[in-house]
Amino acid sequence: MDHRYAFLTEWYDPTAALLRRYQLFYYPKDGSVEMFDVKNQRIFLRRTKYDHLHPEDLFVGNRVNVFSRQLNLIDYGDQYTANKLGSKKERTLAFIKPDVVTKIGDVLESIYASNLIVTKAKMTKLTWSQAADFYVEHQSKPFFNNLVQFVSSGPVVAMELMGDEAMSIWRRLLGPADSAVARKEAPQSVRAQFGTDGIKNVGHGSDSLAAAARELEFFFPSTIGIGPSNTAIYTDCTCCIIKPHAVSEGLTGKILNSISDAGFEISALQMFNVDRANAEEFYEVYKGVVIEYPSMVTELCSGPCMVLEIHGSNTPQSFREFCGPADPEIARHLRPTTLRALYGKDKVKNAVHCTDLPEDGVLEVQYFFKILDG
Ligand code: CDP
Ligand code: MG
Repeated sequence: MDHRYAFLTEWYDPTAALLRRYQLFYYPKDGSVEMFDVKNQRIFLRRTKYDHLHPEDLFVGNRVNVFSRQLNLIDYGDQYTANKLGSKKERTLAFIKPDVVTKIGDVLESIYASNLIVTKAKMTKLTWSQAADFYVEHQSKPFFNNLVQFVSSGPVVAMELMGDEAMSIWRRLLGPADSAVARKEAPQSVRAQFGTDGIKNVGHGSDSLAAAARELEFFFPSTIGIGPSNTAIYTDCTCCIIKPHAVSEGLTGKILNSISDAGFEISALQMFNVDRANAEEFYEVYKGVVIEYPSMVTELCSGPCMVLEIHGSNTPQSFREFCGPADPEIARHLRPTTLRALYGKDKVKNAVHCTDLPEDGVLEVQYFFKILDG
């Protein structure tokens, strides 16, 4: 028998309003998949070649899309799979300090280049006491006050990074805490490249698995609504969504860089896993108007997306022009420097959604940052 990976998965069936459980099998040899219905004990999907599932996406806690069904990988299905795919996978907390939030694109580029993926992200602004709680282990150190003061002085971006040895890889990417030392000892590190001194030193990385668990819980608590809040301001704004295909292709850093280089202010940023019902609701206005509506819905709920609030007067019009024509082929002919020309594939996988009508900007931003962030 071909060797295969096995997972236990859950899929929310919107028609029956039920969570259904399937075993998912993936055969690396030919990239085929097979699904088995656990409750009814029968084959649900016969072994079929499926090009859109990548082995690197197969780990517990991730969501994958199989023939338009978004499956949550809730456990390994056998010891072989757990040993092969699960052993070195770690989650760690990274956060970007206020000095380089405008360089978040560059930092993400280094993260993706190291084979780590970003599974959660949120821009937030910590109060003095939240920052003091976060750094409680350094309470008695002489630099404590300056550190807490700095970290609460502006927006930070907290992220969950995932991958083989994520914790040590991210700390190595950061380099020594003192940026001057980093420039001497680790010139390729992000602190060497973007840091200023010991306090303004780009970012933070958990230093043990226990710290990672505590720090992830601090920014992304399992009880919704109690973590640090997002930074959306809901005035003079437009909504930009970096679509799931672009996120999974590792284009997030490049797209954020393009947006910042063009002079747009990113005033809120967060990753969301949109489910089908919410995707349908968000795109409601396109229903029956745009023939791509069903495919747009499927794309938006096919994996995590990154949502931005772009702020500034006249932003809705100017940002929309910057995104370019909806069809990337047309964009590449007419407006080759636009986001869709640069990063889009086709009319559905066109890299970004942006608000169409200026008066909808606030509503679309609210949909994510008020309603879905709950
Ligand atoms: O951030 P990292 O884990 O590399 O270093 P740390 O020893 O846990 O210290 C936390 C933060 O305190 C550092 O990132 C520095 O910003 C700051 N610090 C400092 O300003 N002076 C020191 N001598 C040590 C740390
Ligand atoms: Mg530390």
